[in-house]
Amino acid sequence: MDTLFVGQNYIFLPETPSTNSFLNTLITERRLAEGTVISSGFQSSGKGQAGNTWEAAKDENIMISVLLYPRFLSVHNQFLLSKCIALAIFDFLTKFLPTAHVRIKWPNDILVSASKICGVLIENGLKGEQIEYSIVGIGINVNEISIDGKRTSMKTITGLDYDLRYLEKILFSCIEARYLQMKSDPGTVSKDYLSVLYGFGEKMKFKDKIHNVEFEGIINGIHADGRLI
Ligand code: BTN
Repeated sequence: MDTLFVGQNYIFLPETPSTNSFLNTLITERRLAEGTVISSGFQSSGKGQAGNTWEAAKDENIMISVLLYPRFLSVHNQFLLSKCIALAIFDFLTKFLPTAHVRIKWPNDILVSASKICGVLIENGLKGEQIEYSIVGIGINVNEISIDGKRTSMKTITGLDYDLRYLEKILFSCIEARYLQMKSDPGTVSKDYLSVLYGFGEKMKFKDKIHNVEFEGIINGIHADGRLI
């Protein structure tokens, strides 16, 4: 459960607009160790993917941002980090929800059955073609039960109350394990991602948001830059 670097530098903020924004500002002010974590009990302007907001009840959920320096990744294979983080959360959730049907929904939402339990927002800083730093924002629904039907939480599934600070420690060790694996054995990360990808190899409905049309298709794989095949 002990980690080498993820969570070794840990800052808890009872309230903040957004842990990703806080970390984004902090790295412009001082040099921070890889694995630095900002955690918060409440975000007043939590950021989601595609400019959406992320709302979560106070002190009932995990909301963290992890600072990583994956300088060995180029922009062209940055999706590997998305896979690594999604798998780390998958590993974490399956430890606590061993009988639940946990799946990764491309690119990196985590579902239990068809309901979202976790969202991930990765913000990369680039230097030329290389990734200079990554701010990995993770929101996991834990003890909140007053959530709509499209979402779920760990407590909704098991009826149990969880200690958020204890869960974070387990999550940090899952992140570190997959991050180290991504460096040493990226092929396994890609293989494992496909093995738990929601709808992989099945006929499903997709929406082309540019042309606003629905179509049927089958996910056959993922390009290195993250585009679906
Ligand atoms: C999504 O839209 O699914 C991504 C949600 C990401 C939410 C997390 S909560 C901690 C971190 N700080 C933020 O402002 N957003 C991410």
